[in-house]
Amino acid sequence: MNRNLIEPQDLTLEELEDIFNLTNQIIDNPKDYADLCKGKILGTLFYEPSTRTRLSFEAAMLRLGGQVIGFSEPGASSVSKGESLRDTIQTVNCYADIIAMRHPLEGAAKLASIYSEIPIINAGDGGHQHPTQTLTDLVTIRKYKGTLSGNTIALCGDLKYGRTVHSLIKALSRYENNKFILISPEELKLPSYIKTEVLDKNNIEYKEITSLEDGIKEANILYMTRIQRERFEDLNTYERLKGIYILDEEKMKLADENLIVMHPLPRVNEISYEVDEDSRAKYFKQAKFGMYVRMALIAKMLEVI
Ligand code: CP
Repeated sequence: MNRNLIEPQDLTLEELEDIFNLTNQIIDNPKDYADLCKGKILGTLFYEPSTRTRLSFEAAMLRLGGQVIGFSEPGASSVSKGESLRDTIQTVNCYADIIAMRHPLEGAAKLASIYSEIPIINAGDGGHQHPTQTLTDLVTIRKYKGTLSGNTIALCGDLKYGRTVHSLIKALSRYENNKFILISPEELKLPSYIKTEVLDKNNIEYKEITSLEDGIKEANILYMTRIQRERFEDLNTYERLKGIYILDEEKMKLADENLIVMHPLPRVNEISYEVDEDSRAKYFKQAKFGMYVRMALIAKMLEVI
């Protein structure tokens, strides 16, 4: 395998298949993998808040029999004293076997990989990429749709800063006959470089619209995202846009009975709690798959299987 995972393309399609197969085996027989990483240590370096990614990485390593060290905010480390990313990475190299790292700056994981002798996993870098969320999303789509090809995926919300959206589009563009419906306000449209370098380059069909009601009728996968307060320089713009898309029971009535609703989470108000009761809502299943696929990823990257 590629030594680091910085963006989805760092894994070949064959490596992805291996990870998906191992994920399914772990789900079916978790006890068989309980000692796989005995004696190995995962470093979780989180310079930005997280619930799912950090805790699922940590749970993944613990369930593989390994151990975890790290910090959940930079204020709890010597970063608060001015230590550079380079020095932090070189130090953690002395203690851990693999690092999962989240950082608010785009490109930080790539930079860390230059100074690291041990594998670096990008657990989210600013508004850029989030490849392990994408693994989670692909496992969820395979589970409920049976295939990563031929789907019509509506992505709704913050497509500009949404790193999960960027990584998922990149990943799904490698499979055949997928179509994208990009639902966002003008201010939060998908960055042009992804349209030209990923969608246009691969002749992928897509359209940009502003109406969730229109998009939900056509899709077989709806991927909701949060309008991310922390990415806005101008909070007035955030206040104007924050409630623009709210998926509720009424809108779910417009959708196909085979639609699945996904969300990387956390949500704020973009999916009403009433939708949680709808059997098409899969976002908490998705969060659980995140732990299993990270178990498979860690095992593969440490070459213990
Ligand atoms: N999906 C995701 O990245 O969630 P967290 O920010 O809670 O890790």
